[in-house]
Amino acid sequence: MQRRTFLKSATYTGVGTGLGAWAASRRTLAADAEIELAIDKLGPVINPHIYGHFIEHLGGVIYDGIWVGRNSRIPNVDGMRKQFIDDMKRIGAPNLRWPGGCFADGYHWRDGIGPAAKRPRTYNYWERQMPPGTHATETNHFGVHEFMRLCRLIGAEPYLAANVGSGTPREFQDWVSYCNAPVGTVSLADERAANGYKEPFRVKYWGVGNESWGCGGDMKPGEYAIEYRKFVTQFPFYVTPYLVATGPRGHSRDMDLAWTDGFFAGMQGGHRSPVHGFSLHFYTDFRNNKMRVADFKAPDWYAVLREGLRTEQVINEHWKIMGKYDPQHRTKLVIDEWGVWYQPGEEITPGYILSQPVTLRDALHTAITFDIFNRHADKIEMANVAQTVNCIHSLFLALEDKYTRTPPYYVFEMYRPHLGARSVPLQIRLDALTVPVQEGTAKIAGLTGSASLREKRLTVTLTNASVDSPITARIRFAGGARASEGRGTVLTHSDMRARNTFQNPNEVRLASLPVKISGETLAVEIPKQAVAAIELQLA
Ligand code: AHR
Repeated sequence: MQRRTFLKSATYTGVGTGLGAWAASRRTLAADAEIELAIDKLGPVINPHIYGHFIEHLGGVIYDGIWVGRNSRIPNVDGMRKQFIDDMKRIGAPNLRWPGGCFADGYHWRDGIGPAAKRPRTYNYWERQMPPGTHATETNHFGVHEFMRLCRLIGAEPYLAANVGSGTPREFQDWVSYCNAPVGTVSLADERAANGYKEPFRVKYWGVGNESWGCGGDMKPGEYAIEYRKFVTQFPFYVTPYLVATGPRGHSRDMDLAWTDGFFAGMQGGHRSPVHGFSLHFYTDFRNNKMRVADFKAPDWYAVLREGLRTEQVINEHWKIMGKYDPQHRTKLVIDEWGVWYQPGEEITPGYILSQPVTLRDALHTAITFDIFNRHADKIEMANVAQTVNCIHSLFLALEDKYTRTPPYYVFEMYRPHLGARSVPLQIRLDALTVPVQEGTAKIAGLTGSASLREKRLTVTLTNASVDSPITARIRFAGGARASEGRGTVLTHSDMRARNTFQNPNEVRLASLPVKISGETLAVEIPKQAVAAIELQLA
């Protein structure tokens, strides 16, 4: 193993709290971690929908990011960027949430059906954030049918966000009938067939508004509960639905626990308005932080990862409140927006608002987040990264004929074996790291991870957040199981700021990672600042 300047072990408890204490504790040894997998006590199935996506009519997400038009010189399938479709298929994207976000509560679905040339041009919520000389005017060329076609091409399930903020229960119910009613029943079904789709779209997942505490209507939780009841009581029941209520702004300092409490209190006594899913938005929110997005130092690296780790606490706190009203936990969490959100100023082009650079740091954040989701598979029905292309925590950046996968894309690829597998409880023994953060030092987990089992295939994913030290991880199985073969992949780079650009799209990519099996134990050397995925065949 290559030895460089490493920390003595994963415990860095230097005296004092300044960067000096952290620097003084640097040594030249790797850390050792012990991992135990309880394959004799399997957890719940990891819902594949946890690895879901979100696209909104915002900046360069839909237009150019996905929709390039049928006559484009950019390779496309029915007007949609072919490379995007192929990559989404490769990671097995299970669902797509659309049309927003904030855009959803100003969107009227009828504007997006029928011949494209006849569709109206409409106002887009994001207009007010566009830089001078650029506009967000909505052409509606990408509408309901284009979205459904995209889902079919990818093999993803549609998840529609309905307009509560400026829409009506009738508009919502009509949209459901248009999508789901068989031809010959209601006129809306015949209209859908006339527009090219005889077979119902069979949309199961419906979000009833978006961020109703903010851009979705600026409501109080009790007010939203009343709206929710009105919107869903007469839901047209062609397909057994999965209805998702607007949940809290989990990334706010107080986690917005009052929203969860207020909403469920407001729903008490209602018998005709089921809440199958409860949305939670958790951004690792650095919008008000002056750090640069593409050029940063260790304290900024750790600050972002530490904040990402807070997701676990936010999930637990809201879950506890939900349990107060629903002890059997019939309602699950739908974390339908998550990602790291930085301050503006480094967009890929003016007008593609929120299209920030995406680095290795964001890939580690992705892995940490998925490991939390996997470990809480009993609570989470679905999660959707915000957003899949050209916006916030993107997997892809696209600008006309230029295109690249970002480092988080590869984490989705590495974690694919977890989708639909049984989660395996794991225990990691390694002291916490004391690391520099922007305001001094802090402690974060030295190694995080999750594991799952599908028949005899075991997948273990691990993240080493340290920018200094590799970790030698020794994995054992409770109950005496053994691995007969194993292979590993790793995502890392010598520069913590590494990213893929249009000029250099393969700067950060997957490499293989040796796995040593000896008797009942196996060992892997996880480099510093790395995500590792280990796939094992059990004997
Ligand atoms: O993802 C960008 C925006 O963030 C969404 O439109 C909104 O729901 C959230 O505030």
